[in-house]
Amino acid sequence: MAKFIPVEPFNIVIFGGTGDLSKRKLLPALFHRFLDGQISTDSRIIGSARSKLSRQDFHNIAQESCRKASEEKLNFDNWTDFSNLLDYQTLNATQPGDSWSELTEKLGNLKDRPTIFYLATSPNLYVQICESIKNANLVHPRSRVVLEKPIGTDLESAQLINSGVGAVFDERQIYRIDHYLGKESVQNLLVLRFANTMFEPLWSRTSIDNIQINVSESIGVAGRAGYYDQSGALRDMVQNHLLQLLCLTAMEPPNTLNDDNIRTEKLKVLTALKPITVQDAPHKTVRAQYRANTVEGEDMAGYQEELGEDSPSNTETFVAIKAEIGNWRWAGVPFYLRTGKRMSSRNSEIIIQFKTAPHEMFGNAGLTEGNKLVIRLQPDEGVRLFVQIKEPGPGGLRIKLLPLNLSYAENFMVRYPDAYERLLMDVVRGNLSLFMRREEVEAAWRWADGLLQAWEDSGTPLTYYLAGTDGPPASEQMLARDGRTWSSEIE
Ligand code: BG6
Repeated sequence: MAKFIPVEPFNIVIFGGTGDLSKRKLLPALFHRFLDGQISTDSRIIGSARSKLSRQDFHNIAQESCRKASEEKLNFDNWTDFSNLLDYQTLNATQPGDSWSELTEKLGNLKDRPTIFYLATSPNLYVQICESIKNANLVHPRSRVVLEKPIGTDLESAQLINSGVGAVFDERQIYRIDHYLGKESVQNLLVLRFANTMFEPLWSRTSIDNIQINVSESIGVAGRAGYYDQSGALRDMVQNHLLQLLCLTAMEPPNTLNDDNIRTEKLKVLTALKPITVQDAPHKTVRAQYRANTVEGEDMAGYQEELGEDSPSNTETFVAIKAEIGNWRWAGVPFYLRTGKRMSSRNSEIIIQFKTAPHEMFGNAGLTEGNKLVIRLQPDEGVRLFVQIKEPGPGGLRIKLLPLNLSYAENFMVRYPDAYERLLMDVVRGNLSLFMRREEVEAAWRWADGLLQAWEDSGTPLTYYLAGTDGPPASEQMLARDGRTWSSEIE
């Protein structure tokens, strides 16, 4: 049974309060936690944006957003109680003015409770907004700031943001969100690895052949093409989400779950990532873009059409990388990373591919693969451990690889909270474990920048794949050169 431990009353100001993230994720997450009794009725949720809206307008926006975002039937009987928490403040967040005094009044005594400033805006406003918060005297030991990804577009811009925000807030008041860390199945990775003694002795180059981290999305970029075209899959997904998954998979056991212990171990992985050089780029990476396709009668637009521009875009919507970690545990074990938009399905998993048996004693009975541990992040969260089994019956010895299947849905009859629910409550509780420390973000950018530079210097070409498929042939070929295949297609 899920247990909801109430958090203390808090204030949250959402800059970009009427924007996409606020509507799709933040307001619904807060409503869910309110319905579960975790948020008390004297907390305050203040949306803020430039538009002149009344409090009632904001209530209406919030209600519509919560309705749209709820996959299941939510109980709106308590909506009025929740809406009593909601307020709105018209604000030009980068400029001083009277509206800041109005906001200050709404927030009351900052000593009383945590006050969270959630920056759901463009990252190039982060520093200015923080300065405005400071000028309005709203920085207090109990204030916290939440930064959405992407933090910058490269190392230099990330450093500028980190320094600018760091000049206003202490590092321990800064919550850098990577929402993948709030997913239940991602948190389970820590439990799976470190609460089960059977895995740890095998978790290294001695027993593991390769690791695959795959985050496929079926959606395209329609509606976000403006942002996406400046970003591409490497900046949008790999620099943050995939590298965080890689860290949790590869890191050493932290001494405790204390936030700095976990973050220090993740940082060690990031700094041990081998740079991808100009020579490596053409054969250790693939960059591709989707093209129009028709799948089962459904027409799917290509990226270029969704972008709506004539001049051909060079932005990758798919990337595959053979990453390597230069340390004792992982020397020689490839980490194949793959992510793409408009793939055949929405499917994220981490596959730990163990080595095959060292000695051939079963002849041609069919023992061709090693064991495999598949950690499925979404959808159908769960864990499957593939083991070799003798097929029953006569006809000679026949061996088959079959899964021991642990499906979360079958084992836990609970609703899967959205990642933002957990993360928002952690900000209120002051728990930084699932947020990125400054050095982590910068180390991830350092590696990603190196790869972007290697692409440019080597002229690694953009290849193409058809929308609704699993990426370009070049990605299969990249693994074939190592005598391997992407694993998820075999299952
Ligand atoms: C975001 C990216 O961070 O993560 C999006 O900007 C992507 O492009 C999204 O679609 C994926 O998140 P999820 O939780 O749907 O896997």
